[in-house]
Amino acid sequence: MSYETLLLETRGRVAVITLNRPQALNALNSTVMTELCDLLGKLQTDAAIGAVVLTGSEKAFAAGADIKEMQSLDFVDVYLGNLFSGWDDIAGFRKPIIAAVSGFALGGGCELAMMCDFIIATKTAKFGQPEITLGVIPGMGGTQRLTRAVGKAKAMDLCLTGRMMDAHEAESCGLVARVVDQERLLEEAVAAAEKIAGFSQVAVGMVKETVSRAFEQTLTEGLRFERRLFHSLFSTEDQKEGMAAFVEKRKAVFKNR
Ligand code: CAA
Repeated sequence: MSYETLLLETRGRVAVITLNRPQALNALNSTVMTELCDLLGKLQTDAAIGAVVLTGSEKAFAAGADIKEMQSLDFVDVYLGNLFSGWDDIAGFRKPIIAAVSGFALGGGCELAMMCDFIIATKTAKFGQPEITLGVIPGMGGTQRLTRAVGKAKAMDLCLTGRMMDAHEAESCGLVARVVDQERLLEEAVAAAEKIAGFSQVAVGMVKETVSRAFEQTLTEGLRFERRLFHSLFSTEDQKEGMAAFVEKRKAVFKNR
């Protein structure tokens, strides 16, 4: 299996997937989405694989959805194309998946990490939902999963100000399960995944299903609502301005239109 934006390595019963778009800080474009869904689909039915670790580079797990790919889209494009709906497959993956996060996990990067079953982070990790700075809102589950993970106060703070939180803050508010030194990140995540892969896969599957159930009730409606609001922002001038300003490396001037 060979992919343009992903690397795959197998360690025993653990598949380690590395997001590999270093030139764009692993920004999540449609190729990453398609390839990740394709790969997870194959791993789903591979009896030799018991668990998955998803990681990025030292500098970035993923710096968000690809702004350059979204910049010119309008409301009709994103609504009819149901932008980001493909990511729902990741949350539907049935084997345990651990996010091993170093550096930036922003926007869609934070949302992708939250679609995994738990997050192990390095001390350098930075989490945030900066979409507000682009004139939009999170569109891959951030308003729903972050709020469930860390509560309303922190979720509002992060989504409304666009600020980043460090690994220590993320661990203390429940977003992150473990914080480790940089050089131990993959080792720790693979060891956890190996341990999980060694248990009864029936019981493991049921733990994943039931814990997720407790967490996800009513999530579907929340996500649908979020997606539609996210799509609608592509009809605003502020989305065009926010994304153009990022690409042109200048400060956005919003007109509230
Ligand atoms: N999309 C596209 N390209 C991106 C990107 C993104 N989300 N994030 C970084 N890049 C690109 C940059 O444009 C730059 O490319 P060039 O060299 O061609 O200019 C390259 O990656 C390196 O980035 P920087 O030079 O900006 O690196 P930095 O170290 O100075 O800053 C950063 C790092 C703070 C993470 C900064 O890159 C940044 O703010 N990125 C955008 C973060 C963001 O807004 N994410 C949310 C995206 S919207 C979203 O995710 C919607 C959703 O809900 C799904």
